[in-house]
Amino acid sequence: MRMLQMLTLSVVYSFLIACEYTPKPQSTKALNDTVVNESHRFDQLSVDPIAHGERLVAVLGCIGCHKPDLTGEDWSDPELGVLWTANLTHSAAEFSNEELAVMITEGKRPDRVLIDMPSFLFTKIHPQDLTALVSYLKSLPVKGNKHPNPTIGPKLAEDIASGEFKNAAQQVDEKLSQSPVDLGEQHSFARFILRATCVECHGMDLDGNAEVLSDAPPRPSLRIIAAYSLEDFKNLMRTGKALGNRDLKMMSGVARWRYSQLTDREIEAIYNYLIKFSHH
Ligand code: HEC
Ligand code: HEC
Repeated sequence: MRMLQMLTLSVVYSFLIACEYTPKPQSTKALNDTVVNESHRFDQLSVDPIAHGERLVAVLGCIGCHKPDLTGEDWSDPELGVLWTANLTHSAAEFSNEELAVMITEGKRPDRVLIDMPSFLFTKIHPQDLTALVSYLKSLPVKGNKHPNPTIGPKLAEDIASGEFKNAAQQVDEKLSQSPVDLGEQHSFARFILRATCVECHGMDLDGNAEVLSDAPPRPSLRIIAAYSLEDFKNLMRTGKALGNRDLKMMSGVARWRYSQLTDREIEAIYNYLIKFSHH
């Protein structure tokens, strides 16, 4: 999944500078005050928060970047610098529940700002889904090595100087009020799911080629759904096979890893939203 990582890399780097000049980041009150919409939460297949959290780390793609066992991956690059996705089994042991929740939804560690962690996707997840995520992380036994902190390579230094690079907390601020188009209350559940997942690659407006994923294959506008029946779409989500039984370079794996764990209700809601979107 290296491609995936490089995406955020070009955009995310001014944190290192920020670290030098700013005091320890504090949780942003504004986020905590966001009004919770009770219908905006993933289906609960289990009353056990740990089991619910395990489904969410798949659906939300944590396992894509942090590896299936969540021990992290080396994304270091001579031009950009050292960067490991964190070993979350160590993070869970080291940080409190509250600190983990702030890292996930605000991109801030108690001692520094994160880079390349797409916290902007997770700002609006329901408090109970967030609790489930954290409970699942806390349930993991510590495994493998702790990884080094990021460093600044020459290209990253350039992107910081030009202002092109945005750290995870800056992305959160920038995108906090952005969402896919509002298609009415009956579609707001799907809109919330799309905002937390598909947006990462298909763009906040769902029209494809989000700037964040600069090295990924081109991503189509999700208006492409107009060609799909509900059965075709379910098949893509569950098996990774696109219309006409095609295997896709990236999306097939993303579907198998992540979206095969969506419920029927979630898949149908996404489909209905996207069909309406395709006529919009
Ligand atoms: C697109 C890739 C990507 C995805 C998806 C992703 N992360 Fe991360 N995450 C990262 C990277 C890269 C870092 C390291 C950032 C740093 O060190 O500045 C990170 C850091 C973290 C940290 C900080 C840990 C520490 O000890 O510093 C936590 C906690 C975390 N991620 C949790 C999650 C959870 C939970 C999910 C899913 C809801 C998730 N991440 C999804 C890339 C990702
Ligand atoms: C990690 C990146 C990523 C995420 C997340 C993602 N997609 Fe994709 N998607 C792609 C890419 C890349 C393609 C283009 C095909 C390829 O190269 O894999 C694609 C293609 C598609 C297609 C077109 C299939 C065809 O017929 O060619 C559909 C439909 C689609 N995605 C739906 C979704 C939906 C719905 C979500 C969220 C539930 C989603 N995608 C999330 C990367 C992603």
